Amino acid sequence: MDEEKKTADMEAIVSLCKRRGFVFQSSEIYGGVGGSWDYGPFGVELKRNIKSIWWRDMVQHRDDIVGLDAGILMHPQVWEASGHVEGFTDPLVDCRSCKKRFRADHVKDGRCPECGGELTEPRMFNLMLKTFLGPVEDDAATTYLRPETAQGIFVNFANVLDVSRKKLPFGIAQIGKAFRNEITPRNFTFRTREFEQMEIEYFVKPGTDEEWHERWVTDRFEWYVRYGMRREFLRLRQHEGDELAHYAKATYDIEYLFPFGWAELEGISNRTDFDLRQHAVFSGRELSCFDEDTGTHVVPYIIEPSGGVDRAALGFLVDAYHEEKVRKRKRVVLRFHPELAPIKVAVFPLLRNRPELVALAKDLAAELRPHMMTMYDDTASIGRLYRRQDEVGTPFCITVDVESLEDNAVTIRERDSMEQIRVPIPEVRQTLVKKLGGA
Ligand code: GAP
Repeated sequence: MDEEKKTADMEAIVSLCKRRGFVFQSSEIYGGVGGSWDYGPFGVELKRNIKSIWWRDMVQHRDDIVGLDAGILMHPQVWEASGHVEGFTDPLVDCRSCKKRFRADHVKDGRCPECGGELTEPRMFNLMLKTFLGPVEDDAATTYLRPETAQGIFVNFANVLDVSRKKLPFGIAQIGKAFRNEITPRNFTFRTREFEQMEIEYFVKPGTDEEWHERWVTDRFEWYVRYGMRREFLRLRQHEGDELAHYAKATYDIEYLFPFGWAELEGISNRTDFDLRQHAVFSGRELSCFDEDTGTHVVPYIIEPSGGVDRAALGFLVDAYHEEKVRKRKRVVLRFHPELAPIKVAVFPLLRNRPELVALAKDLAAELRPHMMTMYDDTASIGRLYRRQDEVGTPFCITVDVESLEDNAVTIRERDSMEQIRVPIPEVRQTLVKKLGGA
C-alpha cells in the first residue's frame, strides 16, 4: 500500500453506490424521478446500522430520553400552528429562456446557472408536499406530508409526559420519513424530496436552555467522530440571524466536507418554547410541566438535535472511501467503522469445484450468521472476492482452503491492513466478535 487519495470524488462515490448496490435511482426503468433514491442491499444495511446505533446511543443507553413513532399524516392544523403553512418557504426564480427553476439563494450572479438567461423576480414557494385525506379533494381534506418529524413529538408531548413520568430535563426521540418539495434536489442523496430524519426534542427548564444547547452540540459532533468521520472533515457553523428558521433562537450546523464542499449533516437548534406555546393556543390544550423546585407549571424550552439518516449515510460513505495502490493495482476500500459495515464477515471456499471445501465454508457461514451479518460467496476467484468485499467495506474475509480439511483452521483476512491470520474453526466466532468490538 503506497499511495492514498484523501478526499473522494463524487463521481467515484456515485458509481460505486450503483455498481455495488448501495443506492439506485428511483424508478430507473421509467427514466428516473428527481429527488428520490432507492437503497439497495448494502445501502439498506448501512442505513439500518446508522439508525440502530443512533437509537441505542440516544434512547436505549440513556435514562432521560424515550422514543416515539408518530404518523407521517397529521391534522392539517398542526402545520398552521407550527408556522409551516406560512413560513416554510424558499425563494424561487424561473429562467425566462430555458424555463428551469432555481432557488434564488443558490444562484450566484443573478443569471440562469444553466443557460445564462435572465431570471424572474424571486417568489416564495412552500416546500410542503400537499395531499388529501379521504376521497374528496376539497380544502377541508387538504393536509401535508410532514416536512419534519419534530411536530409528531410536540403534539404527543402531554401523552408521553403522562406515561413516562419524566421530569425536566428529558427528551423524546424519533426516526422517520420527512418530505420536502425541494426546488432543486441535488448532490446525489444529499438534498432529496423524501428523506429520513433522526430527531430529538429535549425539554429543559427555561434559563438552562443555552447550557443544554452547548452540551448537545458537543455530544452530537463527537458522535460522528466516534463512528469514524475524521475530525478534520467536520466543523461547526452557527446560523446568522437572517438564516435562522422561524422557530429558532440559535442554531449550530454540524457540517461535513463533502466532495461538493462543506454542507450540513445535522442542525442543533434552540427552539425555545415556540412550538409548545403555538400548539397550546391552536389546540386549546395546556402543554406544560410541573416544576417541583418552584411549585409552578412551566412551558419547557426545547433543544433539538436534528440529523438526516441519508446525509449521515453519505457522509460515512465519503469518509470511508479510499483508493490505494496495492502491488501497482488500484484497490477501492470502504473503511467503515465495524458497526456501520453492511456485512461483517464474508466466507469463501478457495476452490468452488471442491464440494468438501464448499460444504465447510457454507457450514462456517451458517454458524456465524446468527451472530453477525455474514455473506457466503463462491462466484469468482479469491482475489476478486476480496476486492468486492473491500468495496462494500466488509471488515473480515475468511478463506477455507485445502489445508482446512487437514488442520480444521481457516485464514481470516483483515480489510484495512490486509493481514492474514490462521485461526482454528472452533475459535473463529469468538475471534471475530472480539475484533469487531462486540458489533
Ligand atoms: N426539525 C428541524 C429540521 O427539520 P432541518 O435543518 O431543516 O431541521 C434537519 O433538517 C436535518 O434533516 C438536516 O440536517 C439534514 O440532515 C436533513 N435534511 C433536511 N432536508 C433534507 C433534504 N432535502 N434531503 C436530505 N436530508 C435533509
